[in-house]
Amino acid sequence: MNYIYYDEIDSTNNEIKRKLLEGDVPEFTVISAGRQTAGRGRSGHDWESPKDVSVATSIALYPREVSCEAVPRLTLIAAVAVAEALEKLYGLKTAIKWPNDILVSNKKICGILTELSAKDNHVENVVVGIGVNVHNRTFPEEISHMAISVDQALEQMGKPTDNVHCKELTEAIWECFLTHYQEFLRQQDLSEILDFYNARLINKGRVVKVLDPKGAYEAVAKEMTKTGELLVEKDEKLISVDSGEVSVRGIYGYV
Ligand code: BTN
Repeated sequence: MNYIYYDEIDSTNNEIKRKLLEGDVPEFTVISAGRQTAGRGRSGHDWESPKDVSVATSIALYPREVSCEAVPRLTLIAAVAVAEALEKLYGLKTAIKWPNDILVSNKKICGILTELSAKDNHVENVVVGIGVNVHNRTFPEEISHMAISVDQALEQMGKPTDNVHCKELTEAIWECFLTHYQEFLRQQDLSEILDFYNARLINKGRVVKVLDPKGAYEAVAKEMTKTGELLVEKDEKLISVDSGEVSVRGIYGYV
């Protein structure tokens, strides 16, 4: 992997996309920053990355043998990589809210933004951007009740935080990601991460609200499938829910 670091940048996803437009970006180039001035989240939201307290990192991928429809699965692989790195390095107990929020103590610790560039319905490149709250002490008012950092999570457990470093976490995440990504390309599905993912799926057995464009309904979440859909049960029937078409929200609090 080829790591590039900036003290400050608008957004690591933006920077890697600019470089991709210029051409000549080796696959697995990783761009990270100490601070993002215009970090982006999903659905057009902002993503705050204050100076030197969080991981903001993006990778360039050329998964040309993957269909455009399958690209969102890379976000699920990234979610597993973050959960795995947080568990391995710090012994945190992670949960995954389908599709790709990593929670610790029921609060969000990480966000992932995957962006696809395609031509004639073929993948040209993909940027996977990951933001992890690491040393944050405060969060913007609107998310403060549902956000947590690595330091805060460790302190809750009475564990020290002096061994927590953004660089080490960044590298651990991308190493885990690479292993699962290569397996995903080989198998062309998510079989290899399925058990890990479903063992942490916090929606499992809970009532979720499926915001289907044809009409919202409630169902019980079962598990994620090897193609990344959430399997839900409604009136004794199993339905596959695709994150691209519908969004699933728990009806009780954040989860
Ligand atoms: C979310 O809304 O949950 C996704 C947040 C993704 C934030 C990361 S930080 C690194 C990369 N650069 C960005 O501008 N966004 C992603």
